[in-house]
Amino acid sequence: MSSIVTAEMLKQQKIAVLFGGDSAEREVSLKSGAAITNGLVKAGYNVTSIDTQGFNLAELTTQGVDRVFIALHGRGGEDGCIQGALEYMNVPYTGSGVLGSALSMDKVRSKQIFKAVGLPTANFCVVSPEDYNAQTSAEVLAELGNKVMVKPAKEGSSIGMAIATSVAELDSALLHAFKYDKQILVEAWLSGKEFTVAVLGDEVLPPIQMETPHEFYDYQAKYQSNSTIYHCPCFLDDDRRAELKNLALRAFQATGAQGWGRVDLMQDSDGKFNLLEVNTVPGMTETSLVPKAANVAGYSFEALVERILTLSLVEEV
Ligand SMILES: Nc1ncnc2c1ncn2[C@@H]1O[C@H](COP(=O)(O)OP(=O)(O)O)[C@@H](O)[C@H]1O
Ligand SMILES: [Mg+2]
Repeated sequence: MSSIVTAEMLKQQKIAVLFGGDSAEREVSLKSGAAITNGLVKAGYNVTSIDTQGFNLAELTTQGVDRVFIALHGRGGEDGCIQGALEYMNVPYTGSGVLGSALSMDKVRSKQIFKAVGLPTANFCVVSPEDYNAQTSAEVLAELGNKVMVKPAKEGSSIGMAIATSVAELDSALLHAFKYDKQILVEAWLSGKEFTVAVLGDEVLPPIQMETPHEFYDYQAKYQSNSTIYHCPCFLDDDRRAELKNLALRAFQATGAQGWGRVDLMQDSDGKFNLLEVNTVPGMTETSLVPKAANVAGYSFEALVERILTLSLVEEV
């Protein structure tokens, strides 16, 4: 697709914020969509917001939509599906394309890529219902150590995840996770600090360090609890912070992500950074992580959504 639209001309366009949808992360997306719409309106854009649950995408054309801001999290909206449909309809959109979205959504394939390009990520096993048997959990624990994290390969927001420290716990965590996905990632436990790094075009925003009294950064810690503490700027010294930012950018590029996103990492017991995942449509409420980091870098919420929208011009060329 080629374009003659410039940043100034974007304000003459009709922008649709797509949000909601019907993934497990619908509730979060409703909030992201409302905040983004509000931010774009305040910044002077002509915006319509559309809940994609039950929505016929062909109506984007009949409604005269010129460009889409994707505020959908999880399956359908963050995994390349809607990106493919918009690509086919020749409607430009924010963020990653089909490949970057699909690869980043899949935690197993993301980790395979991280390993292939020499980026650090914790050891892992992949379990599917077809190859799961009475020995599986004991074998996995023998390989990964006696504490593991179980994750459906293609969910977000910590949905379907559980910690397991015994064969019985791993069995029940796997059976639970099979309800969400046919591929389950079991990852060696990382006992160190947790960080997240936002990427905005070619800019890497200041890393955020998260601390939660929960056993891990679960759904409640992310969205419902006010006990999570965020440190931005984080406590790392300059060299380690530079290392972290560099790793995040390389991970973002390795999965083919574009425009904007957020990379999650954790330290192991030796303080070494390990990549968890790349999020291509991270949460965007006013209190979400990307807006927090952007704020430290000097972007108001309006300036941030405007920047993300403007970056869609770059991806279009
Ligand atoms: N290997 C691990 N060891 C310890 N904690 C982990 C591990 N993997 C994930 N976590 C915790 O679970 C949270 C969610 O994991 P993540 O891989 O980022 O998936 P999601 O897509 O659900 O955010 C992380 O923010 C972290 O707190
Ligand atoms: Mg995460």
